Amino acid sequence: MNILAIESSCDETAVAIVRDGREVLTDCIASQVELHRIYGGVVPEIASRMHIEAIWGLADQALTRTGLTRAQIDAVAVTYAPGLIGAVLVGVNFAKAAALALGKPLIPVHHIRGHIAANYLAFPELEPPFLCLVVSGGHTMIVDVQDYTKMQILGTTLDDAAGECFDKVGRVLGMPYPGGAALDRAAQQGDDQKYSLPRSKPGANPYDMSFSGLKTASLNLIHHADQVGEELDIPSLCASFTAAVSDTLVPRVVRALEQTGRKRLAVAGGVAANSRIRADILSAAQNMGVEVCLPPLSLCGDNAAMIGAQAYYEYQAGNTADMSLNAYATKSILGETI
Ligand code: KG4
Ligand code: ZN
Repeated sequence: MNILAIESSCDETAVAIVRDGREVLTDCIASQVELHRIYGGVVPEIASRMHIEAIWGLADQALTRTGLTRAQIDAVAVTYAPGLIGAVLVGVNFAKAAALALGKPLIPVHHIRGHIAANYLAFPELEPPFLCLVVSGGHTMIVDVQDYTKMQILGTTLDDAAGECFDKVGRVLGMPYPGGAALDRAAQQGDDQKYSLPRSKPGANPYDMSFSGLKTASLNLIHHADQVGEELDIPSLCASFTAAVSDTLVPRVVRALEQTGRKRLAVAGGVAANSRIRADILSAAQNMGVEVCLPPLSLCGDNAAMIGAQAYYEYQAGNTADMSLNAYATKSILGETI
């Protein structure tokens, strides 16, 4: 089954064609990052306009690259939630038009389910059940993936997402948007013990976490140094910050693995590209004898291939939509409107 998949929830317009949920025939991406960089973050209105400009060309490119005809597309999938509403709407409307014109099923896919499904592309043997740590720009959660479309959220951030913190701290340090990757590179040259930063303590739900205290403490430290004219050791601050994020995530994942007894762990989302977090997850999983899936960096960030992968399983579960499909800025991974 060849699925034409569309992703436009943030600042990447992407169109992919994925066969049977596992094989990427093509994954075409037009990134807007350079455009938003001058503003220090994504400008929603610009994102929507750029998606409109890029989406047609990318869909044509996907067909040209694969040599497939329109008749060989069996279904159209699209990220319908969550994201910047104007941006998601562009993809949803394009997908609806394509599905209608082709006379093929329309499959709505939750963006975070897509991130999790990126692991099916990178690891052909991977099947549920497994535990997944989702760490992206907008979401941070530990998910028990019981089946391809049946999931349970064990814990989530109570405030900021990990990626949001990386970007905010990176921005204040003068790094280009999005700050995560640059902060990661700087951290590799630093001493992670040099600055003392807070780790969120387990609350009523031991899998829930918080990053706003860490973000505020990091920003206060930077502003204080600026005010008193103290020179900061930027690489060490980045390393100390990343260690605090990792120390918040990893023990919760370990605990979730112990409690659920899952023997496989996957990671997903843009922050899953972080070298320190990957290393810490890998060593924790290895210590526990748990198999770990760390997707390549190209599949951690936003792309349409992951949407095509999840769409295959949504289709098999009967989760298709008609032309009344809407876009949602927020929606739980379980499908509830929040
Ligand atoms: O999953 P994603 O591409 O988009 C969302 O769905 O949010 O995640 C983007 C986030 C950004 O916050 C970006 O700074 C972060 O992923 N990121 C990283 C790294 N690469 C990307 N954060 C930390 N270390 C990295 N190497
Ligand atoms: Zn994403």
